[in-house]
Amino acid sequence: MSGDARKTAEGLTYLSGFGNEHSSEAVPGALPQGRNSPQRAPLGLYAEQLSGTAFTEPRAHNRRSWLYRIRPSAAHPAFTRTDNGAIRTAPFTESTPDPNRLRWNPLPEPAPGTDFLAGLWTLGGNGDATQRTGMAVHLYHANSSMDRVFSDADGELLIVPERGGLLLRTEFGLLHVEPGHVALIPRGVRFRVELLDASARGYVCENYGAPFHLPDLGPIGANGLANARDFMAPVAAYEEVEGPVEVVNKFCGNLWTAMYDHTPLDVVAWHGNHVPYIYDLRRFNVIGTISYDHPDPSIFTVLTSPSDTPGLAGVDFVVFAPRWLVGEDTFRPPYFHRNVMSEYMGLIEGAYDAKAEGFVPGGGSLHNMMSAHGPDRETFDRASAAELKPQKIDDGLAFMFETRWPVTLTTAAARADHLQSHYDNAWSGMERHFRPLH
Ligand SMILES: [Fe+2]
Repeated sequence: MSGDARKTAEGLTYLSGFGNEHSSEAVPGALPQGRNSPQRAPLGLYAEQLSGTAFTEPRAHNRRSWLYRIRPSAAHPAFTRTDNGAIRTAPFTESTPDPNRLRWNPLPEPAPGTDFLAGLWTLGGNGDATQRTGMAVHLYHANSSMDRVFSDADGELLIVPERGGLLLRTEFGLLHVEPGHVALIPRGVRFRVELLDASARGYVCENYGAPFHLPDLGPIGANGLANARDFMAPVAAYEEVEGPVEVVNKFCGNLWTAMYDHTPLDVVAWHGNHVPYIYDLRRFNVIGTISYDHPDPSIFTVLTSPSDTPGLAGVDFVVFAPRWLVGEDTFRPPYFHRNVMSEYMGLIEGAYDAKAEGFVPGGGSLHNMMSAHGPDRETFDRASAAELKPQKIDDGLAFMFETRWPVTLTTAAARADHLQSHYDNAWSGMERHFRPLH
C-alpha cells in the first residue's frame, strides 16, 4: 500500500481506442519518425520489435509493437527454474474432468508478504499452452506490492479485480484498475503489480489462444457492446534502475527467474498495437430484449478470442452489467440450459440475478460442458410469479469466462476447503407443476 502510488494512479493519462496504432514517447524526440529501425535510434535508445502474432498474419489480426528502450531486452543472464507456487498450466491432467456443477467461496487470506504473482492460484483450464490453444482460470489474493517483474510467454492475462485497486507498471507505461474495471497484459509484456489498498483480490483469465478482440456486431450495427473508444492504453513511462531486479518469466507452464542488472521497464517510447489496456465494465453498452424472451448471453460479450472455426471462441469474456428488464410474458432471469461451451462465472460485486444465495463476490462457479444449470429454486419461484413491470437490475456486476473446451480442475481447486459441498442443492426441491388437462 502506498499513498504515492495511489496519487500516481489517479493522475494517469491514457490513449483511447481498441486495437489502434498508438504511439507515445516519454521524452520528446525519442520516437523515430518515418522508420522503425534507424541506423541509430534517437537519444541513444535501442529499437526492438515485440510480436504478438506471426509476422504474416492478416493485417486485421496482426499485433506488434516497436519499443525504444535504454537497454535491449536481449541483455539478460540465463533464466533458471523457480517454484511455480500455485500456478498451473494446460494441459491440465491433475484431476479427472468433472461433470458436476461446482462453486467456490473466495480464496482464503494469504500469508503476509504475498505479492500478485505469489498470490496467483490456478483453478483449472483447458487446451495446451505449448500449442497456443485454450485458457486457464486463475484467482489472486495479495497483500504486498511486487518488487519483481513478471511476463507471461504462455498467454495474455485478463485481470478482473474484485477487491482493491492495482497500479500496473508495464513496459508501455502505467495503468490503474479498480474493481469494475479490467486490465489486459499482452503475451510477453513485462509488468509489475503495485497494490493501492491493503490487499487485492480478483480473477485472471490466461488466454493461450488468439489475442482477445472485440466481437463482430452483425445486425447490431456499427456501435454497441464494448465500444472501441473506451479501451485505454498507457502513455510511455520508464524507470531508471541500475541494480539487481528479479524478472520472472512464465514459459510453457513453469516459472523461470533471472536477476537483471537493470530494470526491463526501461521503454522510453513505443508505437504499435500489441499494447496493454484497461476497460471500465460500466461503459458496456448492454443490449437486450424490448419485446419478449431474452437474447442468449453472448449478447453480453466484451472480448472474444476466436478459434479456427468461425463463431467458436477459445474463450469469451462476458459481463452481466446493470440493465433494464422489460420483456413481456418472459421468464426474465437467465434460463435453464445445457451448453456445449463451459462457463466459469465470477462476481465482482453485489448479487447475480440467477442465484438468490451462495454465489458471492470473490467466489465463482463452474458449469462445465453440457452440465444442467440455471436459476435456483428461489429465483425460479420469484421470477415465475413476479409482476412484469420494467425492472432495473443494478445491484451487481458478474462476469463469465466461456470457453469451447471443458475446464479441468487443478488438484488445489478440486480439493479446496473453499469448494462448496452442497451446490447441487441450489436446484433441489424443484416442485412438479405439471398438470395434464384431464
Ligand atoms: Fe449458463
